[in-house]
Amino acid sequence: MKKLVIPDHVAIIIDGNGRWAKKKGKSRLEGHDAGYQNIKKIGKYALERGVKYLSIYVFSTENFKRDKDEVKHLMDLFVLMNNKEKGFFMENNIKVIFSGRDEPLPKKVINARNKITEETKNNTGGTLNLCLNYGGRAEIVDATKKIIQAGLKPEEITEELFSHYLYQDLPDVDLMIRTSGELRFSNFLLWQNSYAEFYFPKTYFPDFSTEDFDKAIIEYNKRDRRFGNAKK
Ligand code: IPE
Ligand code: IPE
Ligand code: MG
Repeated sequence: MKKLVIPDHVAIIIDGNGRWAKKKGKSRLEGHDAGYQNIKKIGKYALERGVKYLSIYVFSTENFKRDKDEVKHLMDLFVLMNNKEKGFFMENNIKVIFSGRDEPLPKKVINARNKITEETKNNTGGTLNLCLNYGGRAEIVDATKKIIQAGLKPEEITEELFSHYLYQDLPDVDLMIRTSGELRFSNFLLWQNSYAEFYFPKTYFPDFSTEDFDKAIIEYNKRDRRFGNAKK
């Protein structure tokens, strides 16, 4: 059998925590707790499997529209993840970075986020890019502002240069997975996903297993990535 190609950059939209909870007669908040545990499991597994960058959409700029209690619970989970999981990230040699806007994140989330970034910055076992208060359009607007502030001239602006001004300077996404059966990408990595292969399993994220992740990799290996070339 041919050796599987492992994509360098995988992005996951972790959808279905609420529906998973409902199905089990639990609260939405319990659904998010289960999702949080699964981020650790899938994150560790994907990076061990050889993925170099794993971007996970944990909270969109639009998610602030949700009930106050749910937003508060999610913010508390992010603080917990960043404060409590240092040992987990160090043991597994995972470098943690973030993509997203500061405003209107609570100060405690910003502090916890900056702390874990600093603590894990020398880890070399793969990068976990947590997209927190992230919006693809917001990212493009923010990059444009930085370019104007840097005083760059129109003739200097290329696609390559533009990509250096995004929240993180990462390679394009190779494989984008969205759990729960929704067929959209909800403002996620608009720039970086332009030539990604999309995979939409029906599983709710808390049930998305390492075997399901392997299935996504197998499916990815069946795709013919042409980048605009004619089919061979
Ligand atoms: C994904 O699960 C987690 C976040 C968006 C933070 P949802 O909370 O969107 O779950 P559903 O879509 O309501 O089932
Ligand atoms: C996308 O999921 C955002 C995250 C997973 C963080 P949503 O559940 O918010 O997306 P929509 O509203 O169904 O498009
Ligand atoms: Mg959802």
